[in-house]
Amino acid sequence: MYFVSSNDNKFKEIKEMLYEYSSTRLLIEHKKMKLKEIQSSSLVEVAKVKANDAFDVLREKVMVEDDGLFIESLNDFPGIYSSFVYDTIGNIGILDLLKNKKSRRATFKSVIAFYDGKKFKVFNGQVKGLISENMVEGGWGFDPIFIPENMSVPFGQMDLKSKNKYSHRNLALKKFYSWYEEYNEKS
Ligand code: IMP
Repeated sequence: MYFVSSNDNKFKEIKEMLYEYSSTRLLIEHKKMKLKEIQSSSLVEVAKVKANDAFDVLREKVMVEDDGLFIESLNDFPGIYSSFVYDTIGNIGILDLLKNKKSRRATFKSVIAFYDGKKFKVFNGQVKGLISENMVEGGWGFDPIFIPENMSVPFGQMDLKSKNKYSHRNLALKKFYSWYEEYNEKS
């Protein structure tokens, strides 16, 4: 199976997580590819199109992921625009937008989509947390500013194992994995 993404960090985390829960070691290869990313109000729709696109090219089982950071006091912005916002105003821009806001509550969401030409499935994972007052060193993407619930430091200051324990990605992946084990045995 291919995990299709242009993001090395996502694959690094996924590989480590699968290694932890898999007794049979699901073989998963990273295919670095930029996929079609539609404008949609739903992460699920975006992930579905990505999975179709990846399958069309590779003709093998594929898994793709789409994420978003939803900040409560910004009416869920950047949400589906997370990638664009990260590339434009970045973490500093987000901290600026939150300067006079009372609430710093946010949710990090992950949608993993699987497609093998026959079966199409999506899995959601989400973690609630807070946007930090300042940016920390370390991590990638929004890691330097996202503090998962009940923790005192942002993802950026956690090692891979600790981040994986709390991440939106891990929650979606766990659901995928338990479904896939059964599906794979039957097919
Ligand atoms: P994407 O469109 O799925 O690649 O993700 C939207 C944005 O969220 C991108 O800017 C990613 O860098 C960022 N992102 C996704 N997952 C994470 C994460 O686990 N940590 C930090 N940033 C992330």
